[in-house]
Amino acid sequence: MAGGNQTGKLKRLDELFSSEPDRLSRLSLDVGGLYFDWSKTHLDSGLIQQCVKRLEARKFDEKREELFSGGIINPSEGRAATHVAERGNGAPADVDLATARRQRMRALVDAIEGGAFKDVTGVLHIGIGGSVLGPALLVDALGRSQTRVQVRFLSNIDGAAFDEAVSDLDPATTLIVAVSKTFRTAETLANLEAALQWLREGEVADPDGRVIAVTADPEAAVETGVDETRVLQFGEGVGGRYSLWSSVSISAALALGWDAFEELLEGAAEMDRHFRFTEESANAPLIAAFADRFYVEQVGCQTRAIFPYDERLRLLPSYLQQLEMESNGKSVQADGEPIDLPTAPVTWGGTGTDAQHAVFQLLHQGTIVTPVEFIAVSEGDDRQDSDHHLQLLLNAFAQGAALMAGRDSDDPQRRYPGNRPSATILLDRLDARALGALIAFYEHRTFANAVLLGINPFDQFGVELGKEIARSLGEGSVEAILDPSTRALLERAGL
Ligand code: F6P
Repeated sequence: MAGGNQTGKLKRLDELFSSEPDRLSRLSLDVGGLYFDWSKTHLDSGLIQQCVKRLEARKFDEKREELFSGGIINPSEGRAATHVAERGNGAPADVDLATARRQRMRALVDAIEGGAFKDVTGVLHIGIGGSVLGPALLVDALGRSQTRVQVRFLSNIDGAAFDEAVSDLDPATTLIVAVSKTFRTAETLANLEAALQWLREGEVADPDGRVIAVTADPEAAVETGVDETRVLQFGEGVGGRYSLWSSVSISAALALGWDAFEELLEGAAEMDRHFRFTEESANAPLIAAFADRFYVEQVGCQTRAIFPYDERLRLLPSYLQQLEMESNGKSVQADGEPIDLPTAPVTWGGTGTDAQHAVFQLLHQGTIVTPVEFIAVSEGDDRQDSDHHLQLLLNAFAQGAALMAGRDSDDPQRRYPGNRPSATILLDRLDARALGALIAFYEHRTFANAVLLGINPFDQFGVELGKEIARSLGEGSVEAILDPSTRALLERAGL
Protein backbone atom coordinates (compact mmCIF):
# COMPACT_ATOMS: atom_id res chain seq x y z
CA MET A 1 0.00 0.00 0.00
CA ALA A 2 1.28 3.44 -0.87
CA GLY A 3 1.49 6.05 1.84
CA GLY A 4 0.94 9.08 -0.36
CA ASN A 5 0.71 10.01 -4.00
CA GLN A 6 3.53 8.46 -5.99
CA THR A 7 2.92 9.93 -9.38
CA GLY A 8 6.65 10.39 -9.97
CA LYS A 9 6.94 6.63 -10.35
CA LEU A 10 4.08 6.37 -12.81
CA LYS A 11 4.68 5.66 -16.44
CA ARG A 12 3.99 8.66 -18.67
CA LEU A 13 0.61 8.44 -20.35
CA ASP A 14 1.92 9.91 -23.59
CA GLU A 15 4.64 7.24 -23.65
CA LEU A 16 2.05 4.54 -23.04
CA PHE A 17 0.18 5.81 -26.08
CA SER A 18 3.37 5.71 -28.17
CA SER A 19 4.46 2.27 -27.01
CA GLU A 20 1.00 0.68 -27.26
CA PRO A 21 -0.46 1.47 -30.67
CA ASP A 22 -3.70 -0.39 -29.84
CA ARG A 23 -4.10 1.34 -26.48
CA LEU A 24 -7.23 3.29 -27.38
CA SER A 25 -9.04 0.29 -28.85
CA ARG A 26 -8.10 -1.91 -25.88
CA LEU A 27 -9.14 0.63 -23.29
CA SER A 28 -12.33 1.93 -24.83
CA LEU A 29 -15.66 0.15 -24.90
CA ASP A 30 -19.13 0.67 -26.28
CA VAL A 31 -22.01 -0.63 -24.21
CA GLY A 32 -25.53 0.22 -25.38
CA GLY A 33 -24.96 3.82 -26.39
CA LEU A 34 -22.36 4.53 -23.70
CA TYR A 35 -18.76 4.95 -24.83
CA PHE A 36 -16.13 4.44 -22.11
CA ASP A 37 -12.54 5.56 -22.51
CA TRP A 38 -9.87 4.60 -19.96
CA SER A 39 -6.94 5.17 -22.29
CA LYS A 40 -5.96 8.32 -20.37
CA THR A 41 -5.52 6.28 -17.19
CA HIS A 42 -2.40 4.31 -16.30
CA LEU A 43 -4.08 0.96 -16.83
CA ASP A 44 -2.08 -1.32 -19.07
CA SER A 45 -2.35 -5.01 -19.91
CA GLY A 46 -0.04 -6.00 -17.05
CA LEU A 47 -2.17 -4.21 -14.48
CA ILE A 48 -5.35 -5.64 -15.94
CA GLN A 49 -3.91 -9.16 -15.80
CA GLN A 50 -2.93 -8.65 -12.14
CA CYS A 51 -6.47 -7.54 -11.34
CA VAL A 52 -7.97 -10.49 -13.22
CA LYS A 53 -5.83 -12.83 -11.10
CA ARG A 54 -7.01 -11.06 -8.00
CA LEU A 55 -10.62 -11.57 -9.12
CA GLU A 56 -9.91 -15.27 -9.42
CA ALA A 57 -8.38 -15.36 -5.95
CA ARG A 58 -11.47 -13.59 -4.62
CA LYS A 59 -13.79 -16.07 -6.39
CA PHE A 60 -15.38 -13.22 -8.26
CA ASP A 61 -17.34 -15.44 -10.68
CA GLU A 62 -19.05 -17.16 -7.76
CA LYS A 63 -19.83 -13.87 -6.03
CA ARG A 64 -21.26 -12.38 -9.20
CA GLU A 65 -23.45 -15.45 -9.68
CA GLU A 66 -24.61 -15.15 -6.09
CA LEU A 67 -25.64 -11.59 -6.84
CA PHE A 68 -27.63 -12.61 -9.90
CA SER A 69 -29.12 -15.76 -8.41
CA GLY A 70 -30.35 -14.40 -5.10
CA GLY A 71 -27.60 -15.89 -2.90
CA ILE A 72 -26.90 -14.44 0.56
CA ILE A 73 -24.43 -11.85 -0.68
CA ASN A 74 -25.11 -9.60 2.32
CA PRO A 75 -24.11 -11.97 5.15
CA SER A 76 -24.10 -9.44 8.00
CA GLU A 77 -27.84 -8.95 7.44
CA GLY A 78 -28.44 -12.51 6.21
CA ARG A 79 -29.92 -11.29 2.92
CA ALA A 80 -29.67 -11.44 -0.82
CA ALA A 81 -29.22 -8.18 -2.74
CA THR A 82 -32.14 -8.20 -5.12
CA HIS A 83 -31.92 -4.89 -6.98
CA VAL A 84 -31.00 -6.76 -10.17
CA ALA A 85 -34.29 -8.66 -9.88
CA GLU A 86 -36.12 -5.32 -10.12
CA ARG A 87 -34.87 -5.14 -13.71
CA GLY A 88 -35.56 -8.79 -14.50
CA ASN A 89 -32.10 -10.24 -13.91
CA GLY A 90 -32.29 -11.99 -10.54
CA ALA A 91 -33.46 -15.35 -9.29
CA PRO A 92 -36.81 -16.29 -10.90
CA ALA A 93 -38.72 -16.07 -7.59
CA ASP A 94 -37.26 -12.62 -6.88
CA VAL A 95 -38.04 -11.45 -10.41
CA ASP A 96 -41.64 -12.68 -10.10
CA LEU A 97 -42.11 -10.87 -6.82
CA ALA A 98 -40.54 -7.67 -8.16
CA THR A 99 -42.75 -7.88 -11.25
CA ALA A 100 -45.90 -8.32 -9.17
CA ARG A 101 -44.95 -5.35 -7.01
CA ARG A 102 -44.18 -3.25 -10.08
CA GLN A 103 -47.63 -4.10 -11.45
CA ARG A 104 -49.14 -2.77 -8.24
CA MET A 105 -47.07 0.37 -8.57
CA ARG A 106 -48.26 0.74 -12.15
CA ALA A 107 -51.89 0.25 -11.13
CA LEU A 108 -51.49 3.07 -8.61
CA VAL A 109 -49.82 5.32 -11.20
CA ASP A 110 -52.70 4.58 -13.61
CA ALA A 111 -55.25 5.25 -10.88
CA ILE A 112 -53.65 8.59 -10.03
CA GLU A 113 -53.50 9.54 -13.70
CA GLY A 114 -57.09 8.35 -14.10
CA GLY A 115 -58.31 10.75 -11.40
CA ALA A 116 -58.68 8.41 -8.40
CA PHE A 117 -57.12 11.15 -6.26
CA LYS A 118 -59.05 13.88 -8.09
CA ASP A 119 -56.92 16.63 -9.52
CA VAL A 120 -53.20 15.98 -8.87
CA THR A 121 -50.81 18.68 -10.05
CA GLY A 122 -47.96 18.11 -7.60
CA VAL A 123 -46.15 15.43 -5.62
CA LEU A 124 -44.19 16.05 -2.46
CA HIS A 125 -41.71 13.16 -2.29
CA ILE A 126 -40.38 12.74 1.25
CA GLY A 127 -37.39 10.49 1.94
CA ILE A 128 -33.70 10.67 2.73
CA GLY A 129 -30.52 9.03 1.42
CA GLY A 130 -31.38 6.19 -0.91
CA SER A 131 -35.06 6.98 -0.55
CA VAL A 132 -34.69 10.30 -2.34
CA LEU A 133 -31.38 10.62 -4.20
CA GLY A 134 -32.28 8.23 -7.03
CA PRO A 135 -35.77 9.57 -7.85
CA ALA A 136 -34.47 13.16 -7.56
CA LEU A 137 -31.68 12.35 -10.04
CA LEU A 138 -34.17 10.78 -12.46
CA VAL A 139 -36.57 13.70 -12.41
CA ASP A 140 -33.80 16.29 -12.62
CA ALA A 141 -32.04 14.50 -15.47
CA LEU A 142 -35.01 13.47 -17.56
CA GLY A 143 -37.79 15.85 -16.64
CA ARG A 144 -36.28 19.20 -17.45
CA SER A 145 -38.34 20.15 -20.46
CA GLN A 146 -41.61 18.89 -19.08
CA THR A 147 -43.06 16.72 -16.35
CA ARG A 148 -46.59 15.42 -16.06
CA VAL A 149 -46.83 16.58 -12.47
CA GLN A 150 -44.60 18.89 -10.50
CA VAL A 151 -42.45 16.81 -8.12
CA ARG A 152 -40.63 18.37 -5.21
CA PHE A 153 -38.21 16.43 -3.01
CA LEU A 154 -37.86 16.91 0.72
CA SER A 155 -35.19 15.17 2.77
CA ASN A 156 -33.53 17.34 5.40
CA ILE A 157 -35.07 17.82 8.81
CA ASP A 158 -35.06 21.58 8.49
CA GLY A 159 -38.04 23.88 8.27
CA ALA A 160 -36.29 25.90 5.60
CA ALA A 161 -36.05 22.80 3.41
CA PHE A 162 -39.74 22.11 4.01
CA ASP A 163 -40.79 25.67 3.12
CA GLU A 164 -38.75 25.59 -0.05
CA ALA A 165 -40.12 22.19 -1.11
CA VAL A 166 -43.76 23.22 -0.78
CA SER A 167 -43.35 26.83 -1.92
CA ASP A 168 -44.88 26.27 -5.35
CA LEU A 169 -47.16 23.34 -4.48
CA ASP A 170 -50.89 23.66 -3.87
CA PRO A 171 -51.98 21.57 -0.87
CA ALA A 172 -55.36 20.92 -2.47
CA THR A 173 -53.83 19.13 -5.46
CA THR A 174 -50.63 17.66 -3.99
CA LEU A 175 -50.02 14.00 -3.18
CA ILE A 176 -47.54 13.12 -0.45
CA VAL A 177 -45.25 10.21 -1.30
CA ALA A 178 -43.40 9.10 1.84
CA VAL A 179 -40.53 6.75 1.04
CA SER A 180 -38.56 4.90 3.67
CA LYS A 181 -37.26 1.36 3.52
CA THR A 182 -37.60 1.01 7.28
CA PHE A 183 -40.35 3.57 7.83
CA ARG A 184 -38.52 4.43 11.01
CA THR A 185 -36.19 7.17 9.82
CA ALA A 186 -36.55 10.22 12.06
CA GLU A 187 -36.22 12.85 9.33
CA THR A 188 -38.78 11.20 7.05
CA LEU A 189 -41.35 10.65 9.79
CA ALA A 190 -40.97 14.24 11.01
CA ASN A 191 -41.33 15.60 7.49
CA LEU A 192 -44.36 13.39 6.85
CA GLU A 193 -45.99 14.82 9.96
CA ALA A 194 -45.14 18.36 8.82
CA ALA A 195 -46.63 17.62 5.39
CA LEU A 196 -49.87 16.35 6.94
CA GLN A 197 -50.02 19.52 9.02
CA TRP A 198 -49.50 21.57 5.84
CA LEU A 199 -52.45 19.75 4.20
CA ARG A 200 -54.60 20.36 7.28
CA GLU A 201 -53.71 24.05 7.26
CA GLY A 202 -54.59 24.08 3.55
CA GLU A 203 -58.04 22.75 4.56
CA VAL A 204 -57.64 19.62 2.49
CA ALA A 205 -60.63 17.39 3.22
CA ASP A 206 -58.87 14.07 3.91
CA PRO A 207 -55.15 14.70 4.48
CA ASP A 208 -54.38 11.07 5.39
CA GLY A 209 -55.99 9.94 2.16
CA ARG A 210 -53.44 11.96 0.16
CA VAL A 211 -50.47 9.97 1.49
CA ILE A 212 -48.81 7.12 -0.38
CA ALA A 213 -46.14 5.15 1.47
CA VAL A 214 -43.32 3.19 -0.15
CA THR A 215 -41.44 0.83 2.14
CA ALA A 216 -40.02 -2.63 2.75
CA ASP A 217 -41.93 -2.70 6.04
CA PRO A 218 -45.63 -2.15 5.27
CA GLU A 219 -46.65 -2.75 8.89
CA ALA A 220 -44.51 0.16 10.04
CA ALA A 221 -46.17 2.41 7.43
CA VAL A 222 -49.66 1.27 8.48
CA GLU A 223 -48.73 1.96 12.12
CA THR A 224 -48.02 5.60 11.23
CA GLY A 225 -51.57 5.86 9.85
CA VAL A 226 -51.20 5.15 6.12
CA ASP A 227 -54.01 2.94 4.84
CA GLU A 228 -52.65 -0.35 3.49
CA THR A 229 -54.29 0.24 0.11
CA ARG A 230 -51.86 3.11 -0.36
CA VAL A 231 -48.72 1.27 0.75
CA LEU A 232 -46.35 0.02 -1.94
CA GLN A 233 -43.93 -2.62 -0.75
CA PHE A 234 -40.46 -3.30 -2.08
CA GLY A 235 -38.10 -6.13 -1.13
CA GLU A 236 -35.93 -6.32 1.99
CA GLY A 237 -33.10 -7.31 -0.34
CA VAL A 238 -33.28 -3.96 -2.16
CA GLY A 239 -30.85 -1.69 -0.34
CA GLY A 240 -31.78 1.98 -0.04
CA ARG A 241 -28.96 3.12 -2.33
CA TYR A 242 -29.94 0.45 -4.86
CA SER A 243 -33.67 1.12 -4.69
CA LEU A 244 -34.50 3.55 -7.50
CA TRP A 245 -35.46 0.57 -9.68
CA SER A 246 -38.38 -0.23 -7.38
CA SER A 247 -41.58 1.55 -6.34
CA VAL A 248 -39.29 4.05 -4.58
CA SER A 249 -39.38 5.79 -7.97
CA ILE A 250 -43.16 6.20 -8.13
CA SER A 251 -42.76 10.00 -8.08
CA ALA A 252 -40.39 9.78 -11.03
CA ALA A 253 -42.82 7.49 -12.88
CA LEU A 254 -45.59 10.02 -12.26
CA ALA A 255 -43.40 12.88 -13.49
CA LEU A 256 -41.81 11.16 -16.50
CA GLY A 257 -44.44 8.61 -17.51
CA TRP A 258 -44.50 4.85 -17.14
CA ASP A 259 -42.71 4.15 -20.42
CA ALA A 260 -39.69 6.15 -19.29
CA PHE A 261 -39.53 4.14 -16.06
CA GLU A 262 -39.63 0.86 -18.02
CA GLU A 263 -36.88 2.13 -20.33
CA LEU A 264 -34.74 2.98 -17.32
CA LEU A 265 -35.06 -0.63 -16.16
CA GLU A 266 -34.26 -1.94 -19.62
CA GLY A 267 -31.10 0.16 -19.82
CA ALA A 268 -29.99 -1.18 -16.45
CA ALA A 269 -30.84 -4.73 -17.52
CA GLU A 270 -28.61 -4.36 -20.55
CA MET A 271 -25.72 -3.28 -18.33
CA ASP A 272 -26.46 -6.25 -16.04
CA ARG A 273 -26.06 -8.62 -18.97
CA HIS A 274 -22.86 -6.91 -20.04
CA PHE A 275 -21.43 -7.17 -16.52
CA ARG A 276 -22.52 -10.77 -16.08
CA PHE A 277 -21.45 -12.24 -19.39
CA THR A 278 -18.56 -10.19 -20.79
CA GLU A 279 -14.96 -11.29 -20.35
CA GLU A 280 -12.93 -9.32 -17.83
CA SER A 281 -10.77 -7.33 -20.26
CA ALA A 282 -13.83 -5.92 -22.04
CA ASN A 283 -16.13 -5.58 -19.04
CA ALA A 284 -16.83 -1.90 -18.32
CA PRO A 285 -17.57 -2.08 -14.57
CA LEU A 286 -14.54 -4.35 -14.06
CA ILE A 287 -12.11 -2.14 -15.98
CA ALA A 288 -13.36 0.86 -14.01
CA ALA A 289 -12.89 -1.02 -10.74
CA PHE A 290 -9.35 -2.04 -11.76
CA ALA A 291 -8.49 1.63 -12.30
CA ASP A 292 -10.11 2.51 -8.96
CA ARG A 293 -8.02 -0.06 -7.12
CA PHE A 294 -4.82 0.97 -8.90
CA TYR A 295 -5.11 4.64 -8.02
CA VAL A 296 -6.20 4.06 -4.44
CA GLU A 297 -3.82 1.25 -3.58
CA GLN A 298 -0.73 1.88 -5.67
CA VAL A 299 -0.76 5.64 -6.17
CA GLY A 300 -2.27 6.56 -2.82
CA CYS A 301 -5.15 8.65 -4.17
CA GLN A 302 -7.68 9.24 -1.45
CA THR A 303 -10.36 10.83 -3.59
CA ARG A 304 -11.84 10.50 -7.02
CA ALA A 305 -13.83 13.18 -8.82
CA ILE A 306 -16.78 13.04 -11.18
CA PHE A 307 -17.66 15.91 -13.48
CA PRO A 308 -20.72 15.64 -15.67
CA TYR A 309 -20.48 18.23 -18.44
CA ASP A 310 -24.23 18.37 -18.62
CA GLU A 311 -26.48 20.23 -16.22
CA ARG A 312 -29.04 17.43 -16.45
CA LEU A 313 -26.59 15.20 -14.57
CA ARG A 314 -25.73 17.69 -11.85
CA LEU A 315 -27.16 15.41 -9.14
CA LEU A 316 -25.11 12.42 -10.24
CA PRO A 317 -22.05 13.13 -8.02
CA SER A 318 -24.17 13.24 -4.86
CA TYR A 319 -26.03 10.11 -5.93
CA LEU A 320 -22.71 8.33 -6.46
CA GLN A 321 -21.34 9.57 -3.15
CA GLN A 322 -23.93 7.53 -1.32
CA LEU A 323 -23.63 4.54 -3.64
CA GLU A 324 -19.86 4.28 -3.38
CA MET A 325 -19.08 5.64 0.06
CA GLU A 326 -21.91 3.93 1.93
CA SER A 327 -21.19 0.65 0.14
CA ASN A 328 -17.42 0.45 0.38
CA GLY A 329 -16.39 2.98 3.04
CA LYS A 330 -15.47 0.19 5.44
CA SER A 331 -12.42 -1.22 7.22
CA VAL A 332 -13.29 -4.88 7.60
CA GLN A 333 -14.03 -7.66 5.21
CA ALA A 334 -17.34 -9.52 5.07
CA ASP A 335 -15.91 -12.09 7.52
CA GLY A 336 -14.94 -9.35 10.00
CA GLU A 337 -11.20 -9.52 9.30
CA PRO A 338 -9.49 -6.12 8.96
CA ILE A 339 -8.59 -4.97 5.45
CA ASP A 340 -4.95 -4.06 5.01
CA LEU A 341 -5.59 -1.94 1.92
CA PRO A 342 -7.22 1.47 1.56
CA THR A 343 -10.88 0.93 0.63
CA ALA A 344 -13.26 3.46 -0.95
CA PRO A 345 -11.81 6.84 -1.84
CA VAL A 346 -13.88 9.95 -1.16
CA THR A 347 -16.19 10.48 -4.14
CA TRP A 348 -16.74 14.11 -4.98
CA GLY A 349 -17.41 16.25 -8.00
CA GLY A 350 -19.38 18.99 -9.64
CA THR A 351 -20.56 20.06 -13.06
CA GLY A 352 -18.48 21.31 -15.94
CA THR A 353 -17.81 23.99 -16.83
CA ASP A 354 -18.61 25.53 -13.41
CA ALA A 355 -16.05 23.32 -11.71
CA GLN A 356 -13.30 24.43 -14.08
CA HIS A 357 -13.54 27.89 -12.61
CA ALA A 358 -13.42 26.67 -9.05
CA VAL A 359 -11.53 23.45 -8.37
CA PHE A 360 -9.62 22.53 -11.50
CA GLN A 361 -6.58 24.56 -10.44
CA LEU A 362 -5.80 21.85 -7.90
CA LEU A 363 -6.47 19.07 -10.40
CA HIS A 364 -3.94 20.52 -12.84
CA GLN A 365 -1.21 21.83 -10.54
CA GLY A 366 -1.83 20.64 -6.99
CA THR A 367 0.38 18.09 -5.26
CA ILE A 368 -2.54 15.73 -4.73
CA VAL A 369 -3.42 13.70 -7.76
CA THR A 370 -7.10 12.94 -8.26
CA PRO A 371 -8.39 10.50 -10.85
CA VAL A 372 -11.10 12.37 -12.71
CA GLU A 373 -14.13 11.07 -14.58
CA PHE A 374 -15.73 13.21 -17.27
CA ILE A 375 -19.27 12.43 -18.32
CA ALA A 376 -20.58 14.08 -21.45
CA VAL A 377 -23.54 13.62 -23.78
CA SER A 378 -23.11 13.91 -27.55
CA GLU A 379 -26.64 15.08 -28.20
CA GLY A 380 -27.72 18.20 -26.34
CA ASP A 381 -30.98 18.90 -24.59
CA ASP A 382 -33.62 20.13 -27.11
CA ARG A 383 -34.01 23.36 -25.25
CA GLN A 384 -30.32 24.11 -25.19
CA ASP A 385 -28.54 26.42 -27.57
CA SER A 386 -26.46 24.12 -29.79
CA ASP A 387 -23.40 26.32 -29.51
CA HIS A 388 -23.55 26.09 -25.73
CA HIS A 389 -23.70 22.33 -25.96
CA LEU A 390 -20.75 22.32 -28.32
CA GLN A 391 -18.80 24.39 -25.78
CA LEU A 392 -19.58 21.87 -23.06
CA LEU A 393 -18.25 19.00 -25.12
CA LEU A 394 -15.14 20.89 -26.22
CA ASN A 395 -14.36 21.84 -22.65
CA ALA A 396 -14.85 18.31 -21.33
CA PHE A 397 -12.51 16.86 -23.94
CA ALA A 398 -9.99 19.69 -23.57
CA GLN A 399 -9.71 19.19 -19.81
CA GLY A 400 -8.90 15.50 -20.20
CA ALA A 401 -6.31 16.29 -22.85
CA ALA A 402 -4.75 19.04 -20.70
CA LEU A 403 -4.58 16.86 -17.58
CA MET A 404 -2.74 14.23 -19.55
CA ALA A 405 -0.44 16.38 -21.69
CA GLY A 406 0.48 19.10 -19.20
CA ARG A 407 2.71 21.89 -20.43
CA ASP A 408 6.33 22.70 -19.66
CA SER A 409 7.44 26.22 -18.89
CA ASP A 410 10.53 28.01 -17.62
CA ASP A 411 8.24 29.67 -15.13
CA PRO A 412 7.37 27.15 -12.40
CA GLN A 413 4.06 28.97 -11.73
CA ARG A 414 2.97 28.30 -15.27
CA ARG A 415 4.16 24.72 -15.48
CA TYR A 416 1.60 21.92 -15.74
CA PRO A 417 3.06 18.55 -14.79
CA GLY A 418 0.51 16.58 -16.81
CA ASN A 419 0.32 12.78 -16.63
CA ARG A 420 -2.86 13.20 -14.59
CA PRO A 421 -5.40 10.45 -15.12
CA SER A 422 -8.92 10.84 -16.40
CA ALA A 423 -11.57 8.56 -17.81
CA THR A 424 -14.41 9.71 -20.04
CA ILE A 425 -17.91 8.36 -20.43
CA LEU A 426 -19.68 9.71 -23.49
CA LEU A 427 -23.40 9.03 -23.84
CA ASP A 428 -24.94 9.25 -27.32
CA ARG A 429 -27.98 10.84 -25.73
CA LEU A 430 -29.39 11.24 -22.27
CA ASP A 431 -32.62 9.27 -22.17
CA ALA A 432 -34.06 6.90 -19.59
CA ARG A 433 -32.40 3.86 -21.12
CA ALA A 434 -28.93 5.44 -21.13
CA LEU A 435 -29.36 6.74 -17.59
CA GLY A 436 -30.41 3.27 -16.41
CA ALA A 437 -27.32 1.76 -18.00
CA LEU A 438 -25.08 4.46 -16.53
CA ILE A 439 -26.36 4.00 -12.97
CA ALA A 440 -26.17 0.20 -13.23
CA PHE A 441 -22.57 0.56 -14.47
CA TYR A 442 -21.71 2.42 -11.26
CA GLU A 443 -23.52 -0.17 -9.12
CA HIS A 444 -21.56 -3.02 -10.66
CA ARG A 445 -18.30 -1.11 -10.44
CA THR A 446 -18.98 -0.63 -6.73
CA PHE A 447 -19.72 -4.34 -6.38
CA ALA A 448 -16.51 -5.25 -8.24
CA ASN A 449 -14.45 -3.00 -5.95
CA ALA A 450 -16.11 -4.68 -2.96
CA VAL A 451 -15.27 -8.17 -4.19
CA LEU A 452 -11.65 -7.15 -4.88
CA LEU A 453 -11.44 -5.96 -1.27
CA GLY A 454 -13.55 -8.71 0.33
CA ILE A 455 -16.09 -6.13 1.55
CA ASN A 456 -19.84 -6.64 1.95
CA PRO A 457 -21.12 -3.55 0.08
CA PHE A 458 -24.74 -4.05 1.08
CA ASP A 459 -24.75 -3.11 4.78
CA GLN A 460 -24.09 0.29 6.40
CA PHE A 461 -23.62 -0.09 10.13
CA GLY A 462 -21.35 2.97 10.17
CA VAL A 463 -24.34 5.30 9.97
CA GLU A 464 -25.96 4.11 13.19
CA LEU A 465 -23.83 5.41 16.07
CA GLY A 466 -24.38 9.11 15.41
CA LYS A 467 -28.14 8.56 15.02
CA GLU A 468 -28.24 6.70 18.35
CA ILE A 469 -26.38 9.43 20.17
CA ALA A 470 -28.67 12.12 18.70
CA ARG A 471 -31.66 10.07 19.83
CA SER A 472 -30.37 9.63 23.36
CA LEU A 473 -29.54 13.32 23.58
CA GLY A 474 -33.09 14.09 22.42
CA GLU A 475 -34.41 11.82 25.16
CA GLY A 476 -32.35 13.70 27.70
CA SER A 477 -29.79 10.96 28.42
CA VAL A 478 -26.97 13.44 28.20
CA GLU A 479 -24.67 11.42 30.50
CA ALA A 480 -24.52 8.64 27.93
CA ILE A 481 -21.75 10.23 25.92
CA LEU A 482 -20.75 13.52 27.15
CA ASP A 483 -17.23 14.47 26.48
CA PRO A 484 -16.33 18.04 27.49
CA SER A 485 -16.41 19.33 23.92
CA THR A 486 -19.92 18.04 23.16
CA ARG A 487 -21.20 19.23 26.56
CA ALA A 488 -19.87 22.72 25.85
CA LEU A 489 -21.55 22.74 22.44
CA LEU A 490 -24.89 21.79 23.96
CA GLU A 491 -24.54 24.46 26.60
CA ARG A 492 -23.48 27.09 24.09
CA ALA A 493 -26.53 26.29 21.91
CA GLY A 494 -28.75 26.63 24.97
CA LEU A 495 -29.81 22.96 25.04
O1 F6P B 1 -28.72 6.38 7.48
C1 F6P B 1 -28.43 5.80 6.27
C2 F6P B 1 -29.63 5.15 5.64
O2 F6P B 1 -30.00 4.02 6.33
C3 F6P B 1 -29.39 4.86 4.18
O3 F6P B 1 -28.75 3.66 3.97
C4 F6P B 1 -30.77 4.91 3.63
O4 F6P B 1 -30.78 5.08 2.23
C5 F6P B 1 -31.32 6.10 4.37
O5 F6P B 1 -30.75 6.04 5.65
C6 F6P B 1 -32.81 6.15 4.47
O6 F6P B 1 -33.32 5.03 5.13
P1 F6P B 1 -34.86 4.67 5.00
O7 F6P B 1 -35.14 4.42 3.57
O8 F6P B 1 -35.05 3.44 5.86
O9 F6P B 1 -35.65 5.83 5.51
